[in-house]
Amino acid sequence: TSNKMWGGRFADGPDAIMEAINASIGFDKRMAAQDIAGSRAHAAMLAAQGIIEDSDAEAIREGLLTVLSEIEAGEFAFSTALEDIHMNVEARLKEVIGEPAGRLHTGRSRNDQVATDFKLWVRDQLDATEGALLALIAALLDQAERGADWVMPGFTHLQTAQPVTWGHHMMAYVEMFGRDLSRVRDARARMNESPLGAAALAGTSFPIDRDATAQALGFDRPAANSLDAVSDRDFALEFLGAASICAMHLSRFAEELVIWSSAQFRFVQLSDRFSTGSSIMPQKKNPDAAELIRAKVGRIFGANVALMMVMKGLPLAYSKDMQEDKEQVFDAADNLMLALAAMEGMVRDMNASRDSLAAAAGSGFSTATDLADWLVRVLGLPFREAHHITGSLVAMAEAQGCDLPDLTLAQMQSAHAGITQDVFSVLGVENSVNSRISYGGTAPAQVRAQIARWQEILG
Ligand code: ARG
Repeated sequence: TSNKMWGGRFADGPDAIMEAINASIGFDKRMAAQDIAGSRAHAAMLAAQGIIEDSDAEAIREGLLTVLSEIEAGEFAFSTALEDIHMNVEARLKEVIGEPAGRLHTGRSRNDQVATDFKLWVRDQLDATEGALLALIAALLDQAERGADWVMPGFTHLQTAQPVTWGHHMMAYVEMFGRDLSRVRDARARMNESPLGAAALAGTSFPIDRDATAQALGFDRPAANSLDAVSDRDFALEFLGAASICAMHLSRFAEELVIWSSAQFRFVQLSDRFSTGSSIMPQKKNPDAAELIRAKVGRIFGANVALMMVMKGLPLAYSKDMQEDKEQVFDAADNLMLALAAMEGMVRDMNASRDSLAAAAGSGFSTATDLADWLVRVLGLPFREAHHITGSLVAMAEAQGCDLPDLTLAQMQSAHAGITQDVFSVLGVENSVNSRISYGGTAPAQVRAQIARWQEILG
């Protein structure tokens, strides 16, 4: 038997393999609510424009609510033969209300319908991502506030560089996730144009009102070009792009948590709630959530690349290739939400070990730059010479197996006769971080100013 929707042209039904490769209902049923919202707006507009009878539009709009409640209650029998969510809903509407259902698709195509549904879905997802990012940022701000003046080593090349503060390190991630937030908001503002009414590709001869449906669905305006409207998936790619960058940030943080929670570092303790044990090694507490977050970037970035590849060769306007957009976006969205929530939970729960951080901050000659700066400031040496003298003192300390503050004044003076006892005042880590008062620097006063700025931004 041939298809209900286009049986006129077809004598034969599809092969089972054709049905398997063609059907999208297995995944696009996630857009049921969006599909029904779009159809209800379209039906209302058709009646307001006198294109269909008010009574038919009423029956359609009511019937669609019945279908929605069936789907939400899990009572809906999805059919692969009906390919996708659009035809499943319409076919069921026909069963529920009869003949008027056939008038719903006037002046519309599945091409503008799917673009509209998917946009509404992605828009909801951008909003959900925004909420998750705000929650994560709030958790980071709490950590930053608690440890605004806790000293820890700052690294370059994962080698001890200069002391920084815990609050400063947390606030670095606030900046990163803050940019993710603005990317999500940008994408939402740019994508918020309605494809509905573009019809198959050329628009329609019916006197539709695209402004009305755009407004009913919360879009800022109708998309201006019908060819573009049905073949644009930039909004999905922008979501995936923003999600990829955000996942990359999450992954870098996750990597730090894996390192920091190791027995060799002991910078943080992750909570039991976000750790796992070993089935054989009784002592183990593994940072599995962080490791999985670190891995998620792979599939999210993979989705981004996959959809770029799907789109790059498509002539205008719609091609069935575009049906491959949804699984990538759904998977990326689900995993991004999970990763954001897991990171928020870990950050909320984690205990930074102030003592371990401080001990590590003072080792590895972390205040060598402060010593060089002292030689410049107090003795008036050129920085290059100060750098050289300090290097020789580091070598001396290393040979003796001690840190810079453990050298005697006489040893210091063997590198430069002008050095005085005052030099020891800059070799402490507290002094070092307190001195870095330049805008955006690690001094607790700067960190507290940045925390206050973000608290104000977030209200
Ligand atoms: N399931 C299709 C998709 O996801 C809906 C649009 C189908 N349009 C068409 N002309 N075959 O893209």
